[in-house]
Amino acid sequence: MTGKRILLIVGGGIAAYKACELIRALRKSGASVRCVLTAGGAQFVTPMTLAALSEQPVHTSLWDLKDEAEMGHIQLSREADLVVVCPATADLMAKMAAGIADDLATTLLLATDKPVLAVPAMNVRMWTHAATRRNVATLRADGVTVVEPDEGPMACGEFGPGRLPEIEAIMAAIGMALAPDAKPLAGRHALVTAGPTHEPIDPVRYIANRSSGKQGFAIAAALARLGAGVTLVAGPVALATPPGVTRIDVETANEMANAVDRALPADVAVMVAAVADWRTAAESSQKIKKSGDAPPALALTENPDILAGLGHGPRRPALLIGFAAETQDVLAHATAKRVRKGADWIIANDVSGDVMGGDRNRIHIITADGVESWPDAGKDEIADRLAHRIAFALGASV
Ligand code: CTP
Repeated sequence: MTGKRILLIVGGGIAAYKACELIRALRKSGASVRCVLTAGGAQFVTPMTLAALSEQPVHTSLWDLKDEAEMGHIQLSREADLVVVCPATADLMAKMAAGIADDLATTLLLATDKPVLAVPAMNVRMWTHAATRRNVATLRADGVTVVEPDEGPMACGEFGPGRLPEIEAIMAAIGMALAPDAKPLAGRHALVTAGPTHEPIDPVRYIANRSSGKQGFAIAAALARLGAGVTLVAGPVALATPPGVTRIDVETANEMANAVDRALPADVAVMVAAVADWRTAAESSQKIKKSGDAPPALALTENPDILAGLGHGPRRPALLIGFAAETQDVLAHATAKRVRKGADWIIANDVSGDVMGGDRNRIHIITADGVESWPDAGKDEIADRLAHRIAFALGASV
């Protein structure tokens, strides 16, 4: 983000303190930040804090004549590359949607000709209220990018969507807004596994699972859109190969492990496949016939763990991401899995509903720093957000 100019409007919510972290992240990435603090925002952070972090004067009032002479609100709103509203409160978004301009922040938002990105943070009931839903829809129709808030426990003691997203996610969204056509992963190799594996029992039967491959294919497509060279190792699914993606079709876990090995090295590997944990100890070369006696017992043997092999192996990608399909104690199992498999992130999803085969997903990203819970969204949207998070994590410059 070197040389990019961000106008940051800090609204009045408890998440305002996180705007301070955002300023530091933006400065670290080479952007300059000029802050506008609403009266509500000033109840949570001081102009002095924002000025010290941004190393720029902080603007608070429309009627500050000194400001008006030196830096009028029109100029202030137009000399930025991007206007970021963080936290965007329900009140601020309602005013933006209605075109109300009754203080410096809302006047700037009405006067600007630059892209605007709003990062909402509010109580779950305010976020889900019909009025806020309407306002968010209006803002999006007006071309404002409204980032989806995270889910989780809130400062007010309630639980649900409305939490300010993690700084890395906000930075990824800012990167995307600054350069929507950028290819931040150009020159990088991404390896993705997707779909189920089929483990043959005899020439006509196999062990399988319900994975549709949709999430993995969407992630491969999203990484390719960001410019990555993508190798997609796909289990048996009837999905179209996404544009710009090199696809290797496999059937069994062993074939998938070999294909992954041959596709290395990779800068990032996203192991979305639902690999069968076991295969039959000995595949029958003939169809197993009913004998009239007891049903045949299937002796099973364990398949190689491809993710763990990468995580603990010598050719580990810089960023290694696994998936965890769980039906109970989702976060606890996934957190243990991250360490056990040597992954950087585990994307956990609860598959007790109709996630497998469906078009929507709800994920938690488990990293060394903690858990980030994303709200329910289409698999394509999740893939896009994830691809940008990956680009940001790899330090790709936008
Ligand atoms: N995985 C893999 N190779 C395997 C099994 C799993 O690469 N043989 C990867 C999956 O692609 C996924 C992650 O490991 O990224 C989690 O897989 P999962 O089957 O949920 O975990 P398991 O280790 O099998 O744990 P459990 O079955 O106890 O849930």
